[in-house]
Amino acid sequence: MCGIVGYVGKDNAKDVIVDGLKRLEYRGYDSAGIALLLENKIFVYKKRGKIRNLEIDLRKKQVFSSTGIGHTRWATHGEPNDENAHPHLSCDGKIAIVHNGIIENYSDLRKELLKKGHKFLSDTDTEVIVHLIEEEFKTAESFLGAFFKGLKKLRGSFAVAVITLHEPETIFVARKDSPLVIGLGDGENFVASDVPAFLPYTNRVVFLDDFEAAVIKSDSVSIFDFAGVKKEKKEVTIPWSISQAEKAGYKHFMLKEINEQPRAISDTVSGNYKLITDGKLDGIDLNKIRRIQIVACGTSYHAGLVGKFYIENFSNIPTEVDYASEYRYRNPVLTEDTLVVSITQSGETADTLAAMRLAKEKGAKVLTVCNVIGSTATREADSVIYTYAGPEISVASTKAFTTQLTVLFMLSLLLGRERGVLDSSEFDRRLKLLMEVPGKIESFLNVEREEEVVKKIALEFYRSKDALYLGRHVNYPIALEGALKLKEISYIHAEGYPAGEMKHGPIALIDENVPSVFVATEGKVLEKIVSNIEEVKARKGKVISVTNPGIKEVYELSDYVINVPEVDEFLSPIVNVVPLQLFAYYIADFLGYDVDQPRNLAKSVTVE
Ligand code: F6R
Repeated sequence: MCGIVGYVGKDNAKDVIVDGLKRLEYRGYDSAGIALLLENKIFVYKKRGKIRNLEIDLRKKQVFSSTGIGHTRWATHGEPNDENAHPHLSCDGKIAIVHNGIIENYSDLRKELLKKGHKFLSDTDTEVIVHLIEEEFKTAESFLGAFFKGLKKLRGSFAVAVITLHEPETIFVARKDSPLVIGLGDGENFVASDVPAFLPYTNRVVFLDDFEAAVIKSDSVSIFDFAGVKKEKKEVTIPWSISQAEKAGYKHFMLKEINEQPRAISDTVSGNYKLITDGKLDGIDLNKIRRIQIVACGTSYHAGLVGKFYIENFSNIPTEVDYASEYRYRNPVLTEDTLVVSITQSGETADTLAAMRLAKEKGAKVLTVCNVIGSTATREADSVIYTYAGPEISVASTKAFTTQLTVLFMLSLLLGRERGVLDSSEFDRRLKLLMEVPGKIESFLNVEREEEVVKKIALEFYRSKDALYLGRHVNYPIALEGALKLKEISYIHAEGYPAGEMKHGPIALIDENVPSVFVATEGKVLEKIVSNIEEVKARKGKVISVTNPGIKEVYELSDYVINVPEVDEFLSPIVNVVPLQLFAYYIADFLGYDVDQPRNLAKSVTVE
């Protein structure tokens, strides 16, 4: 949803910003641009398409500046062309802006500004902000005053960074409902939509909250509310390293992140071990919980569906799962003994944040399961359990998902023990089983080399037009997740279903051209799944099964088999999803698509 980067310091801002934008490209890749503050003008260069295009052109331009801002765009208002790319300039060319978000009243503001003689060069909502500040500056006492006056007239969501000839070597930033984080360096400072942008330079950060602004210079950062009152904010150190945000020899981030899962799960278990065994969650009285509502979007929603199985099975607490985008517009019935659990990798998804805010307004406690320290979700929730996946760069979520499942499993054990559903020995036994999962995935990836099998099957099917994914019980959400992975990166139409639902409609789709991917590992519904495979075979469908070694019936019926190590049934989703991630990955790669940056998508969906 657009990425912003700003730099002020001793180095050439151009290089730092382009480098930072490349790390934020997952947020949008329709166009990119940069604005640099020179002695008596602002140099702007922007271009449709990926940052690579911008980078190549900029290499030829001899320009040095200590101060600049940059942007990578995911188009909302106005098609992705050079004119609509950010930064945008004021009429006199003395102010430049980059923006992430949506200005809802931009059309009224634009009309007013047109009447006052402003000329617009783009179709974007963003351009009104820079004209508004320019207009306010005509009567304001200072540029900062004009900045605040302009911000107060905006409705909608924004994270903005502004540079101006009126205040050299300074970046003005502000946020409302879109993320913004300041990186603190030594004689240099940074601002960005997300930490990886400046991770090679610093991991000391300050997160801005809604209705906060900052004036950033190379040697100081001053933070204000929109009334201009100065504020003190805590500095946070992010425990991520730059190597985690680089490809490390893998062709794509997605493949690297799939392979990182054993480490990510293991870190998530150890990072939360004390929290779970101590049996306490900050700000939440566990004995009071009578109902749980899980809210999330996309892949995180699928994690929530598995979480429902965990929580209901191990703690007997009735649990519902909602798409955050639906939850926020209905009237969820909440009592003070309802715990709302939001699941979000980024901690910035607009719908998930809105669902959390609604839940809090209605008096519920909110726990968030999140991967990004200091993100909005973690600051707004009553309690946080972190996933320790490290930065997830690929737009298609992989390691965030399996670490979310890990946390939900641990949370369900904690709730079960506190409510007396699980005794301590069962709690310990289940936790030990979880600790075996990273080794099982490691063995699948690196010892058994099943990845090669998945790749071969992908080669057989990459020209398919449709695919069905079927699973049951805890693995039904894995079927949904497998289908989502395939469609988002390979653009092949895929549907995930609980296999038992097949004969209520989807079975009509089956013919020799539609592969069905079954999740058919050990568990109480294995026999039922085998019958579903028979039903597909009877209609000449091709069957690919993810199964455990030695399940004869599945071997005999399936056209292709991917073996995953056997684990406890409730933990099998964490293992079973891995071959489905790889299957989608190889299909998209065979098709020649940009796996890490699929069309029309952005990593962090900070608009509704
Ligand atoms: C799919 C994917 C998305 C996200 C969704 C929620 O691979 O990544 O479906 O899961 O946009 O994002 P978070 O978890 O950041 O709230």
